[in-house]
Amino acid sequence: MEKIDYYDSIFKRKSIKRYDLTPLDDNTLAQISNELNNLKPLYDDIKTEVKVLSLDEIEAKKKKKQAPHYLAVFSEPKNDYLVNAGFMLQKMDLLLSGNDIGSCWLGSPQPKEEVLKTSDLEFVIVMAFGKPQDIGSMHRSSVSEFKRKPISEISDIKDTDEILEAARLAPSAGNSQPWFFTGNKNLIHAYGSKPYAVKEHKAPRVKKYNTISMGISLYHLKVAAEHFGKKMEILFDKTAEKNAHEGYEYIVSLKIG
Ligand SMILES: Cc1cc2nc3c(=O)[nH]c(=O)nc-3n(C[C@H](O)[C@H](O)[C@H](O)COP(=O)(O)O)c2cc1C
Repeated sequence: MEKIDYYDSIFKRKSIKRYDLTPLDDNTLAQISNELNNLKPLYDDIKTEVKVLSLDEIEAKKKKKQAPHYLAVFSEPKNDYLVNAGFMLQKMDLLLSGNDIGSCWLGSPQPKEEVLKTSDLEFVIVMAFGKPQDIGSMHRSSVSEFKRKPISEISDIKDTDEILEAARLAPSAGNSQPWFFTGNKNLIHAYGSKPYAVKEHKAPRVKKYNTISMGISLYHLKVAAEHFGKKMEILFDKTAEKNAHEGYEYIVSLKIG
């Protein structure tokens, strides 16, 4: 595993869905495990744990898109823990991609019962990873290869496109791109779309994955802010909460400076 430029990785990454099922070598796996110790949460007060699992630790029925390895996030289920999980683990997606290791957030695989029992925390989601079947097509070579909404559909801020571009390119469940950003270049308010357009029985699942996706885009914003020499701090803005557009709910505000 090499050190990578996380900002650069945002513009090249893509979800890898077909894997060579040969496990990665022990040294690479040890380095990946080690990197998990460097993950930073968005919210310091939420306890989390990330486990590296092999394919045989995943429930058989849920193994549709198989990979040799999985990162499984567990969390204390409180406050914005789903946003927190997305924010934390997206660093691994960028790091793996930058090291020519494929990865993909996956909503359906679940660890086996005996793995679930090893944590006191709630299982949140997995990210599959491993060598891609086709190493030649594991990166995007231009922004035009991303299927994403234009910036005008995800924000009404006029003067901060360079930072918002990183959020625009973030991966999201079903490519739903549930985010909307208002405010200005020094204070960005983040909103997530409510799962209003789906059948009621599906709404909790959609909401869960949209919320994780929000955290992923916030991580991309942080990487971009740092790339441009700025720091990102989070805060809760009561006015921004009240001013949510219809169909969206307020997540958090980011002070960029
Ligand atoms: C929270 C989350 C859950 C996802 N779940 C699945 C899934 O269950 N199956 C799948 O094939 N892709 C899944 N994806 C991958 C998305 O479909 C993918 O990120 C999106 O289409 C954008 O494509 P890209 O990642 O290649 O840029 C998920 C992504 C996220 C962020």
